[in-house]
Amino acid sequence: MKKILVATQKPFAPEAVKGIEAVCKEAGYEFVLLEKYAEQQDFVNAVADVNAIIIRSDKVTAEVIEAAKNLEVVVRAGAGYDNVDLDAATKHNVVVMNTPGQNSNAVAELALGMMVFMARGGFNGKPGTELKEKSIGIHAYGNVGQHVARIAKGFGMEVCAFDPFVKKAEIEADGVKALDSAEELYKSCQYISLHIPANEKTKASIGKALLGSMPKDACLVNTARKEVINEAEMMELMAEREDFTYLSDIAPDCADDIAAKFEGRYFFTPKKMGAQTKEANVNAGIAAIEQIVAMFEKGDKTFQVNK
Ligand code: 3PG
Repeated sequence: MKKILVATQKPFAPEAVKGIEAVCKEAGYEFVLLEKYAEQQDFVNAVADVNAIIIRSDKVTAEVIEAAKNLEVVVRAGAGYDNVDLDAATKHNVVVMNTPGQNSNAVAELALGMMVFMARGGFNGKPGTELKEKSIGIHAYGNVGQHVARIAKGFGMEVCAFDPFVKKAEIEADGVKALDSAEELYKSCQYISLHIPANEKTKASIGKALLGSMPKDACLVNTARKEVINEAEMMELMAEREDFTYLSDIAPDCADDIAAKFEGRYFFTPKKMGAQTKEANVNAGIAAIEQIVAMFEKGDKTFQVNK
């Protein structure tokens, strides 16, 4: 009997867990749940005899993979898989998948929600500003970026995007202005919504050159990964430009410094929560277990990311 472990330091909504368990039972698999674990070692200890693991931002290190002697597949219920050691997985013939698109709307809603929050001074009762007719640049036009575009258009914003991996015609078909470079995007848009993955090429790639070129009342919205920001350069820019604000889903490493120096010009969620809705948890969690069943029963590896 296949054994499936759901290891979520930040738990799914109960509805998602029930759904995953039901699909497991239906397939004749054993279901094991490890939630809110305190130490990484608890995760390592739980994998000894499992065939599949469903995770969120949980760290699947080489140690986890090596401890999981029967492991065949890891599914990251979500988009970014920078928390999985792909080389270690590949070395041990472990398939790694994500569930693209399943939690994107939740992340996009949070991005726009944080923008409204900042534009209205953190709901402090004083006069704020509106999003209507302001420009927003979407940096990477994947699943989340596309939802951000749709919602921003609803607000009456002027929406631009840059993505070197998506054809300009596809972006323009959504009524979004496709720009040719990140440089052009940042210098054209008051708001920038970041949706690039964290990898060796993108880490610390968003620094003073791009951010400093943004128009007056610039606002950077980061629901991607904190690692893509060059924090030292952003701090320098915040000191130079009083009109620059930073919104991030998860606090940057320099959060205390920002809080001490730039009051009212930032907002950070206490815990990464862009994808933390019942709907996103159910969509991503069920997709994850269904992908595992499809692989075990039919050899389907459609969403494999370590090919
Ligand atoms: C993702 O990459 O899917 C999001 O960052 C959500 O991450 P989470 O599952 O840890 O909330």
